Amino acid sequence: MENPRPFFKAHVFCCTNRREAGHTRGCCAEKDAEGLRDYMKAKVKTLGIDKVRVNNSGCLDRCELGPCMVIYPEGIWYACKTKADVDEVISEHLQNGRVVERLKLP
Ligand code: FES
Repeated sequence: MENPRPFFKAHVFCCTNRREAGHTRGCCAEKDAEGLRDYMKAKVKTLGIDKVRVNNSGCLDRCELGPCMVIYPEGIWYACKTKADVDEVISEHLQNGRVVERLKLP
């Protein structure tokens, strides 16, 4: 039996995990991950980008590099620290299918 076609064209998982202050690994929430996630969700909706879902995620285990997100089906990881970074991922990756090398995690 064949797999069904993907329901979403792109699925964005934004880590919003929060740890106690002073934790050795830090966390994405202390770097405004929730605010950036909210901004991304709203912008994707405002722009009417179809079949793209922006979801919360728990810890993605790359805490020191965050705020982290991963976009499937490509499996490309980004660290977006500002709204301008989020704008670039939306316009380049989600709308034009181009990886944003300067924000990509190794
Ligand atoms: S807290 Fe975000 S990757 Fe771990």
